[in-house]
Amino acid sequence: MAVGIFDSGLGGLTVLNAAQQRLPEVDFLYYGDNAHAPYGVRDAEDVFQLTRSAVETMWAHGCDLVILACNTASAAALRRMQEGGLPPGKRVLGVFVPLIEALTERQWGDNSPPREVSVKHVALFATPATVASRAFQRELAFRAVGVDVEAQSCGGVVDAIEDGDEILAEALVRSHVDALKRKMPVPQAAILGCTHYPLMEDIFQKALGPGVKVFSQGELVAESLAHYLERHPNMMGQGQGGYLTSGDAARVSDRATQFLRREITFTAAC
Ligand code: DGL
Repeated sequence: MAVGIFDSGLGGLTVLNAAQQRLPEVDFLYYGDNAHAPYGVRDAEDVFQLTRSAVETMWAHGCDLVILACNTASAAALRRMQEGGLPPGKRVLGVFVPLIEALTERQWGDNSPPREVSVKHVALFATPATVASRAFQRELAFRAVGVDVEAQSCGGVVDAIEDGDEILAEALVRSHVDALKRKMPVPQAAILGCTHYPLMEDIFQKALGPGVKVFSQGELVAESLAHYLERHPNMMGQGQGGYLTSGDAARVSDRATQFLRREITFTAAC
């Protein structure tokens, strides 16, 4: 029995890690589409097709529930897949809503009308595709009014992380934070709207300063998944846990081990 966690590459491991800690009794099947990463520079149609095909692979491996632990895939594909109809017994969930519920201080699943919230100035750091989709602002508008969101498209950061080039990734994060601060000098909160970015969370926090509350998705998504599985215990799936990649399994295993600081072994998805 395994729940599926999907990302374009390594970023979703930040969500997987939190989910494994929160739900130690649950098996997870992780799939990184490393052969096609990064998604964030692709157009919405391309991201949709790649995401759908990856999710179908995970369904074929016995997962009934797949978490799109990728904001870019969630922005381009989640609503479209759900509206297009899913096979019986299969579900796909994204990563925006738990984050926005935390930002707007809502209880899990509170669908009451949008209201004023304490946070007024929010910096959003995300991939070019997520920023262009405006999906974050759309989901936020369902829950809150009067929040000013300044989005910074963080070109290059995902490539640097996927390539294991931490020095370049750090330099890029600092320069994207500087660019954001030129547009919004004093954000109250910052959203790390890409699951790769928690791997650089300290650098974001240092560059933003201690007064800015940084929200990242791992623990928020894990908590929301725990609530979901309590209500839907039948969604654990039939397949086995593990780590699949469309890329070079040895190389991806090395990178994953480096990032999570524990041995992770990927096998090639077929
Ligand atoms: N980690 C992904 C996200 O949350 C996508 C990164 C990419 O492939 O560009 O947006």
